[in-house]
Amino acid sequence: MTSNQRDIQVSYDVSNEFFSLWLDENMHYTSASYLTGDETLEQAQLQKCAILYDYAEMTPDKKVLDIGCGWGANLQYLVLDRGVKDAHGITLSPEQGREIDERKLPGVTTWVCDYRDFEPPAQYDALQSIEMIDHLVSPAQARDGQAVDIYRQYFDKVAKWVPSGAYFGFQAILRVKVPRRRKDLADLQFTADVIFPGGLNPRIEDLIMAAHPTWEVLEVRTQRESYGKTTAEWYRRLQAHEAEIRERWGDQVYADYDRYLGTCVRAFANHWSSDVQMKLRKI
Ligand SMILES: C[S@@+](CC[C@H](N)C(=O)[O-])C[C@H]1O[C@@H](n2cnc3c(N)ncnc32)[C@H](O)[C@@H]1O
Repeated sequence: MTSNQRDIQVSYDVSNEFFSLWLDENMHYTSASYLTGDETLEQAQLQKCAILYDYAEMTPDKKVLDIGCGWGANLQYLVLDRGVKDAHGITLSPEQGREIDERKLPGVTTWVCDYRDFEPPAQYDALQSIEMIDHLVSPAQARDGQAVDIYRQYFDKVAKWVPSGAYFGFQAILRVKVPRRRKDLADLQFTADVIFPGGLNPRIEDLIMAAHPTWEVLEVRTQRESYGKTTAEWYRRLQAHEAEIRERWGDQVYADYDRYLGTCVRAFANHWSSDVQMKLRKI
């Protein structure tokens, strides 16, 4: 099965304060885009938003939906940094929904809802989605050969929410290569089972096959090294808060996130994982 709401709560509802200790100040939980390598995590996260803003061909007057909007960091960028007047988001995590409400962002409307059940209040002019698609196919479904069909159901469904010619700024974490050492395999398995149950990082070729024939793939930009730097910075900040995390959330939470983030850093360094940004246009 795909990640259901209980799985999503395991991944995102530990505590909003916990994530705020080691993510960037706006709580993006996805790869930043380092362009020179000298940026802070905060600057690189805004650069990611700028790339996806351009890929979605956004303007302040366009109505946009962010599918899998996390704690609202990209929505915040849209309305506060770019003056977008009407930005909507959906997330499956109640804690994330609560955090977005507390931010009281002007022009932002969000729902805690599965995208499969979402009924848009109106047509959108543009779509964005940042690393949500890795929740849609489980390892068992991928082994069963269902991945492309499930991703295509997603691309076809969201396409109904925009007119032909509309743009979609899309980002996904990728699986590239299977490590050879048993310990590395066990660490990746742990990350999938314990931190992100029900999910699986997609293969880039599966995403491109699934986007066709509804979406034209106009640009593809991979950023493996950026995700390596992003996760290394998350890991550094987690370790800097070790004592507080152990005291407030317990030794097991600290041990699990220490193992998970350490594995991520190795996954990007060794090409087991990568990240892709795509500019799509509805045919
Ligand atoms: C890795 S987080 C990324 C959050 C945000 N886009 C960011 O950049 O920080 C994945 C997001 O996808 C959402 N999500 C996963 N499956 C979903 C589904 N079926 N429908 C709606 N949202 C979903 C989760 O609730 C979470 O907000």
